[in-house]
Amino acid sequence: MAENKQEMNIQWYPGHMTKTRRMIQCQLKNMDAVCEILDARIPLSSRNPDVEELTAGKPRLIVLNRIDVADSDATRRWAAWFRGRGFAVLEVNAKEGQGTARFAAAVRELLADKLAAYAEKGQAGRMVRVMILGIPNVGKSTFINKVAKRKTAKAEDRPGVTRTQQWVPVDRSLELMDTPGMLWPRFDDPQVGLHLAFTGAVRDEILDTETLACRLMELLAQRYPQALAERYKIEITPEDTGYDLLIKAGRRRGFMIRGGEVDTERMAKILLDEFRGGKLGRFTLELPEDMA
Ligand code: G4P
Repeated sequence: MAENKQEMNIQWYPGHMTKTRRMIQCQLKNMDAVCEILDARIPLSSRNPDVEELTAGKPRLIVLNRIDVADSDATRRWAAWFRGRGFAVLEVNAKEGQGTARFAAAVRELLADKLAAYAEKGQAGRMVRVMILGIPNVGKSTFINKVAKRKTAKAEDRPGVTRTQQWVPVDRSLELMDTPGMLWPRFDDPQVGLHLAFTGAVRDEILDTETLACRLMELLAQRYPQALAERYKIEITPEDTGYDLLIKAGRRRGFMIRGGEVDTERMAKILLDEFRGGKLGRFTLELPEDMA
């Protein structure tokens, strides 16, 4: 994987990170809990590397988002894995609203002791505040909009435009705050970079489309060979490289260019689009047992 490192070019700005970290630290004092949104297909690669340490000591809820495109068995195992580490977990498809209605109850369950103490002091109904954390594109706005039942567009995400920190009411005694600043993904591990690129969390700039598609072919051939073979009607042999598979799939689809060659560039785009859109099947690229 050493060659990947040179090919990778994920943009990251130390200044932004320091600023975001400070904003989060500063706001955390006002929060009762934090809710970290992850992509269920890549729960580790979609985690910001500093959140664990930043939020230690706070009641924490993990939202495994995009369960509609993740492997449901793997999602269950990830949920158990996070629960085993003291997190409350919610499995969600924020786009369709599946699982989002349970959010308020899950937060109150997580804060049961604190809320009971409030009630004892005659402060039942006191406002509960939750900070929503997540890397760009993980589905924060979609999730917040569904949970708060609002239709408004997301806050500005363009560089140089300050996202206004807004409180979003969920009900009379629960409100949310969107991530203050830009929360970066991990950028030091090429494998993480690949997983983020496969899922479209970072644009295709880290590798050219064809190389990225070859790597995805290799991974799918390893993890989900049957789905891959069925979708593209190809036979997969142990000797096949990612490029070989791209050629096989392209040929079956009839993507030919002059001279009888396969248009691998076109097939690469199709593979990435179909994977990201869930058309290939529901896949999870990282499993808890990979952690060992
Ligand atoms: P962000 O605030 O964290 O940056 O992410 P945002 O909500 O903008 O979501 C990024 C993209 O992910 C959106 O797609 C959104 O629809 C999609 N998305 C969010 N949650 C889910 C989910 O649970 N399942 C699936 N399949 N997709 C999800 P988009 O193409 O940018 O916009 P749109 O045309 O879908 O609205």
